[in-house]
Amino acid sequence: MTNLLGYFLRILIGIVGITSLVTCQLSSFPEDFKFGIGTSSYQIEGGWNADGKGESIWDHLTHTRPESIVDQSNGDVTTDSYKNWKRDVELVRELGVDIYRFSISWPRILPNGYKNHINKAGIDYYNNIINALLAYNITPMVTIYHWDLPQKLQDGLGGWTNSEIVDVYADYAEVLFEQFGDRVKMWTTFNEPWHICEQAYGQHYMAPSFDIPGIPIYLCGHNLLKAHAKVYHMYKLKFKHQKGTIGITADITTPHPLKHNEHDYEAVERNFQFYIGWFMHPIYSKIGNYPKVMIERIKELSHQQGFSKSRLPSFTDHEIKLIQNTSDFFGINTYTSFLVTLNDDDKNPAKHRVPSFQHDMGVIETQDESWDKSGSPWLRVHPPGIRHMLNWIRKEYDNPVVYVTENGVSDKGGLNDVKRVEYFNSYLTSILNAMNDGCNVRGYIAWSLMDSYEWKAGYTEKFGLYHVDFKSPDKTRTPKMSAKVYKNIVKTHKVDWNYMPYVDDKSGTTSTKLSILLICILVTLNAFKLS
Ligand code: NOJ
Repeated sequence: MTNLLGYFLRILIGIVGITSLVTCQLSSFPEDFKFGIGTSSYQIEGGWNADGKGESIWDHLTHTRPESIVDQSNGDVTTDSYKNWKRDVELVRELGVDIYRFSISWPRILPNGYKNHINKAGIDYYNNIINALLAYNITPMVTIYHWDLPQKLQDGLGGWTNSEIVDVYADYAEVLFEQFGDRVKMWTTFNEPWHICEQAYGQHYMAPSFDIPGIPIYLCGHNLLKAHAKVYHMYKLKFKHQKGTIGITADITTPHPLKHNEHDYEAVERNFQFYIGWFMHPIYSKIGNYPKVMIERIKELSHQQGFSKSRLPSFTDHEIKLIQNTSDFFGINTYTSFLVTLNDDDKNPAKHRVPSFQHDMGVIETQDESWDKSGSPWLRVHPPGIRHMLNWIRKEYDNPVVYVTENGVSDKGGLNDVKRVEYFNSYLTSILNAMNDGCNVRGYIAWSLMDSYEWKAGYTEKFGLYHVDFKSPDKTRTPKMSAKVYKNIVKTHKVDWNYMPYVDDKSGTTSTKLSILLICILVTLNAFKLS
């Protein structure tokens, strides 16, 4: 009898173990989890010189060097959201999302970059959008800077490489808080600092399209961090009564070790520090400042290359303190993954008289040919990456509040965008896995509302949930399959596998489920063995 009772109890313990293992895992997003959709000003607005708008560095680049754009196109008209904004707010409402993430064009508000001349038409334009969103109970999440610097500030100051920009940017942000802050409660200072600095000054990939590797990029980063901190403190002091939140959005292609050896794990860590840490370590780490590995490597390499001081500028102790803890949420944009290994050539300074970000990092990045291709050469589909990256942030920065501020995939067009649906389902599942690991993810903003101007790729890569007929006079928008599925995901807070019966271990979900099953079997077996 006692034996029987013992058996029974052990089975019961086994079952309870299994149930708790299974039930403590989220299978859907929490009720208060926020879903959103995103765009940016230069990519969708058009109206490049309408109603007093000034020229931006993207207007300038696309007009003066059209050959540097894949299809020689520009954003002069693009989706014409400047005229079609009402329809676009309707699209956002149709998706049922909580958040619309969009950016404000600095030269539309301040045509010359400075606050001495405010363009009333620009203020009206954004007021209309904000008011229409609020009427539908949609939270506007406004990016203050998504790459369209007024050309006058580039010509006159040298853009982000001149420390003067810190005050000029703060003035611009102040105008936005004054004009819109009574209604906008979620702000991000910068979208993707790594792109703003490395891709625009170090490589000619983004406007203003300089190719001066390894030097101005770090000046840009330095000024950008100071500008971010200045605006954060201004918002928290002068605009405290507006009771909003303000953060910053970094970007990363998640690194994974090429091989499972010590060197490749070091490459992973270094890669994270050079991309995310460059901007987030000064803000989020307990000690502040740039990551140690950046300070040491750039100092040493600068010395070997014959520079009189490190190409990475230093912060004073006061500045370090000022920059620390200046973000209410950790915004992260991510699309794909890398396989990384240390660069063997790294220790040969003679070969690297010309410094560069890549050489400073000393990591070689490749992608796995087996990962699904997209419509962009740089983007292959690897859903486990987002979980890995979110866990790195959790461990590195003491589990901050995170918003995935951009995630999505490109194709070459078409309404039946099954691959995009598959992408959202599998990346969202990976995020859910990360949340089950303990990551503090509060929101997900899909990229992008509609097909738009994809920077140097022009109109050759489509990221939209809505198709845009760029040839039609009113740039007709039509929902793709992904818009319908995303709407359902937003509504149910669950990924929508019905559209994807064939998705299996690509998502990492099956492997997670299998691991849970294996653990369950082991627990049960153990319960029997104990008896
Ligand atoms: C990140 C940028 O913020 C966005 O503007 C761009 O369209 C996407 N990446 C896709 O490349």
